[in-house]
Amino acid sequence: MTVNSGNRLKVLYSREEIEAAINRLAEKIALEYRGRNPVLIGVLKGSFIFMSDLVRRLDFPLEMEFVRLSSYGSSTESSGKIKLEHSVKTTIKGKDVLVVEDIVDTGLSLTFLMDYLKKKKPATLKLCCLMDKPSRRKAPVTIHYSGFIVPDQFLVGYGLDYAEQYRNLPDICILEGEK
Ligand code: PRP
Repeated sequence: MTVNSGNRLKVLYSREEIEAAINRLAEKIALEYRGRNPVLIGVLKGSFIFMSDLVRRLDFPLEMEFVRLSSYGSSTESSGKIKLEHSVKTTIKGKDVLVVEDIVDTGLSLTFLMDYLKKKKPATLKLCCLMDKPSRRKAPVTIHYSGFIVPDQFLVGYGLDYAEQYRNLPDICILEGEK
Protein backbone atom coordinates (compact mmCIF):
# COMPACT_ATOMS: atom_id res chain seq x y z
CA MET A 1 0.00 0.00 0.00
CA THR A 2 1.18 3.56 -0.70
CA VAL A 3 2.20 5.34 2.51
CA ASN A 4 2.70 8.98 3.39
CA SER A 5 6.24 10.20 2.96
CA GLY A 6 8.28 9.70 6.10
CA ASN A 7 6.21 6.68 7.16
CA ARG A 8 6.90 3.01 6.57
CA LEU A 9 4.72 -0.02 7.26
CA LYS A 10 6.13 -3.09 8.94
CA VAL A 11 3.93 -6.15 9.47
CA LEU A 12 3.51 -6.98 13.16
CA TYR A 13 0.84 -9.68 12.80
CA SER A 14 0.10 -11.21 9.42
CA ARG A 15 -3.42 -12.03 8.25
CA GLU A 16 -2.67 -15.71 8.98
CA GLU A 17 -1.63 -14.93 12.56
CA ILE A 18 -4.73 -12.79 13.01
CA GLU A 19 -6.92 -15.60 11.70
CA ALA A 20 -5.35 -18.09 14.10
CA ALA A 21 -5.84 -15.70 17.04
CA ILE A 22 -9.50 -15.17 16.13
CA ASN A 23 -10.04 -18.91 15.82
CA ARG A 24 -8.68 -19.35 19.35
CA LEU A 25 -10.89 -16.56 20.68
CA ALA A 26 -13.97 -17.92 18.91
CA GLU A 27 -13.47 -21.38 20.41
CA LYS A 28 -13.33 -19.96 23.92
CA ILE A 29 -16.28 -17.64 23.34
CA ALA A 30 -18.37 -20.50 21.91
CA LEU A 31 -17.70 -22.60 25.00
CA GLU A 32 -19.09 -19.87 27.24
CA TYR A 33 -21.89 -18.37 25.14
CA ARG A 34 -23.40 -21.16 23.02
CA GLY A 35 -27.10 -21.48 23.85
CA ARG A 36 -27.26 -18.13 25.66
CA ASN A 37 -28.14 -15.88 22.70
CA PRO A 38 -25.58 -13.23 23.70
CA VAL A 39 -25.50 -9.65 22.46
CA LEU A 40 -22.13 -8.78 20.93
CA ILE A 41 -21.48 -5.05 20.96
CA GLY A 42 -18.86 -3.78 18.52
CA VAL A 43 -17.16 -0.46 19.22
CA LEU A 44 -16.96 1.60 16.01
CA LYS A 45 -15.08 2.28 13.97
CA GLY A 46 -12.00 0.24 14.81
CA SER A 47 -13.70 -3.08 15.64
CA PHE A 48 -15.72 -3.48 12.46
CA ILE A 49 -13.38 -5.94 10.72
CA PHE A 50 -12.60 -7.92 13.88
CA MET A 51 -16.31 -8.12 14.73
CA SER A 52 -17.23 -9.35 11.26
CA ASP A 53 -14.52 -12.03 11.27
CA LEU A 54 -15.29 -13.12 14.83
CA VAL A 55 -19.05 -13.51 14.45
CA ARG A 56 -18.65 -15.62 11.33
CA ARG A 57 -16.76 -18.16 13.41
CA LEU A 58 -19.54 -18.35 16.03
CA ASP A 59 -22.09 -20.92 14.83
CA PHE A 60 -24.87 -20.30 17.34
CA PRO A 61 -27.63 -17.69 17.71
CA LEU A 62 -26.46 -14.26 18.83
CA GLU A 63 -27.37 -10.61 18.38
CA MET A 64 -25.18 -7.74 17.26
CA GLU A 65 -25.15 -4.10 18.21
CA PHE A 66 -22.68 -1.29 17.61
CA VAL A 67 -21.75 1.72 19.67
CA ARG A 68 -19.63 4.70 18.75
CA LEU A 69 -17.54 6.64 21.24
CA SER A 70 -15.62 9.83 20.84
CA SER A 71 -13.07 11.47 23.05
CA TYR A 72 -12.78 15.20 23.10
CA GLY A 73 -10.42 17.80 24.50
CA SER A 74 -7.30 16.62 22.66
CA SER A 75 -6.74 15.53 19.09
CA THR A 76 -3.90 13.07 19.44
CA GLU A 77 -4.02 11.67 22.96
CA SER A 78 -7.13 10.26 24.64
CA SER A 79 -8.24 13.04 27.00
CA GLY A 80 -10.29 10.83 29.27
CA LYS A 81 -13.42 12.75 28.42
CA ILE A 82 -15.40 10.19 26.49
CA LYS A 83 -18.90 10.53 25.12
CA LEU A 84 -21.27 8.21 23.37
CA GLU A 85 -22.07 9.20 19.79
CA HIS A 86 -24.26 6.18 19.07
CA SER A 87 -25.70 3.79 21.64
CA VAL A 88 -27.30 0.33 21.58
CA LYS A 89 -30.76 0.31 20.07
CA THR A 90 -32.06 -2.79 21.84
CA THR A 91 -32.58 -3.59 25.52
CA ILE A 92 -29.65 -5.47 27.05
CA LYS A 93 -31.23 -5.85 30.48
CA GLY A 94 -30.90 -9.46 31.64
CA LYS A 95 -28.85 -10.45 28.58
CA ASP A 96 -25.33 -11.81 28.26
CA VAL A 97 -23.33 -8.98 26.73
CA LEU A 98 -19.88 -9.27 25.16
CA VAL A 99 -18.16 -6.06 24.08
CA VAL A 100 -15.92 -6.50 21.03
CA GLU A 101 -13.07 -4.03 20.68
CA ASP A 102 -10.02 -3.84 18.46
CA ILE A 103 -7.54 -2.39 20.96
CA VAL A 104 -7.36 -1.34 24.60
CA ASP A 105 -4.75 1.36 25.00
CA THR A 106 -5.14 3.79 27.94
CA GLY A 107 -8.32 1.94 28.92
CA LEU A 108 -10.27 5.18 29.26
CA SER A 109 -12.74 4.41 26.45
CA LEU A 110 -13.54 0.95 27.74
CA THR A 111 -13.82 2.06 31.36
CA PHE A 112 -16.42 4.58 30.27
CA LEU A 113 -18.28 2.09 28.06
CA MET A 114 -18.33 -0.78 30.55
CA ASP A 115 -19.62 1.56 33.30
CA TYR A 116 -22.30 2.86 30.94
CA LEU A 117 -23.42 -0.65 29.92
CA LYS A 118 -23.36 -1.95 33.51
CA LYS A 119 -26.07 0.57 34.40
CA LYS A 120 -28.34 -1.10 31.86
CA LYS A 121 -28.25 -4.24 34.03
CA PRO A 122 -27.12 -6.99 31.66
CA ALA A 123 -27.02 -10.51 33.18
CA THR A 124 -23.30 -10.63 32.41
CA LEU A 125 -20.91 -8.14 30.84
CA LYS A 126 -17.53 -9.15 29.45
CA LEU A 127 -14.91 -7.75 27.11
CA CYS A 128 -13.15 -9.31 24.13
CA CYS A 129 -10.35 -7.34 22.51
CA LEU A 130 -8.04 -8.36 19.73
CA MET A 131 -5.13 -6.26 20.99
CA ASP A 132 -4.11 -5.23 24.47
CA LYS A 133 -1.46 -2.52 24.92
CA PRO A 134 -0.95 -2.68 28.71
CA SER A 135 2.10 -0.38 28.68
CA ARG A 136 -0.17 2.62 28.02
CA ARG A 137 -2.87 1.88 30.59
CA LYS A 138 -4.23 4.79 32.64
CA ALA A 139 -7.39 3.08 33.89
CA PRO A 140 -7.56 -0.62 34.81
CA VAL A 141 -9.73 -2.70 32.48
CA THR A 142 -10.61 -6.36 32.88
CA ILE A 143 -10.17 -8.11 29.54
CA HIS A 144 -11.86 -11.50 29.47
CA TYR A 145 -10.74 -12.55 25.99
CA SER A 146 -7.57 -11.10 24.49
CA GLY A 147 -5.88 -11.93 21.18
CA PHE A 148 -2.46 -10.25 21.30
CA ILE A 149 -0.46 -8.29 23.85
CA VAL A 150 1.03 -5.56 21.66
CA PRO A 151 4.08 -3.32 22.07
CA ASP A 152 3.85 0.45 22.53
CA GLN A 153 4.08 1.29 18.85
CA PHE A 154 1.75 3.04 16.45
CA LEU A 155 -0.38 0.30 14.92
CA VAL A 156 -2.55 0.46 11.83
CA GLY A 157 -4.53 -1.98 9.73
CA TYR A 158 -7.25 -4.54 10.36
CA GLY A 159 -9.58 -1.70 11.42
CA LEU A 160 -7.01 0.59 13.07
CA ASP A 161 -6.34 3.93 11.45
CA TYR A 162 -3.92 6.78 11.24
CA ALA A 163 -5.88 9.92 10.28
CA GLU A 164 -8.62 7.59 8.97
CA GLN A 165 -6.21 5.83 6.60
CA TYR A 166 -4.98 2.21 6.64
CA ARG A 167 -8.07 0.60 8.22
CA ASN A 168 -8.35 -1.63 5.15
CA LEU A 169 -4.89 -3.23 5.49
CA PRO A 170 -5.39 -7.00 5.97
CA ASP A 171 -2.41 -7.24 8.35
CA ILE A 172 -1.71 -5.39 11.60
CA CYS A 173 1.27 -3.13 10.90
CA ILE A 174 3.58 -0.79 12.75
CA LEU A 175 3.51 2.65 11.19
CA GLU A 176 7.16 3.55 11.55
CA GLY A 177 7.86 7.24 11.91
CA GLU A 178 4.74 7.75 14.12
CA LYS A 179 4.37 7.32 17.87
C1 PRP B 1 -9.50 3.35 19.49
C2 PRP B 1 -9.93 1.92 19.79
C3 PRP B 1 -10.60 2.04 21.12
C4 PRP B 1 -9.87 3.19 21.77
C5 PRP B 1 -8.88 2.63 22.72
O1 PRP B 1 -10.57 4.03 18.92
O2 PRP B 1 -10.80 1.42 18.81
O3 PRP B 1 -11.97 2.34 21.02
O4 PRP B 1 -9.16 3.90 20.75
O5 PRP B 1 -8.14 3.67 23.30
P1 PRP B 1 -8.08 3.93 24.86
O6 PRP B 1 -7.90 2.59 25.52
O7 PRP B 1 -6.86 4.82 24.98
O8 PRP B 1 -9.32 4.62 25.29
P2 PRP B 1 -10.44 5.50 18.32
O9 PRP B 1 -10.80 6.50 19.38
O10 PRP B 1 -9.12 5.64 17.65
O11 PRP B 1 -11.62 5.54 17.26
P3 PRP B 1 -11.91 4.55 16.03
O12 PRP B 1 -12.27 3.20 16.60
O13 PRP B 1 -13.05 5.19 15.32
O14 PRP B 1 -10.65 4.49 15.19
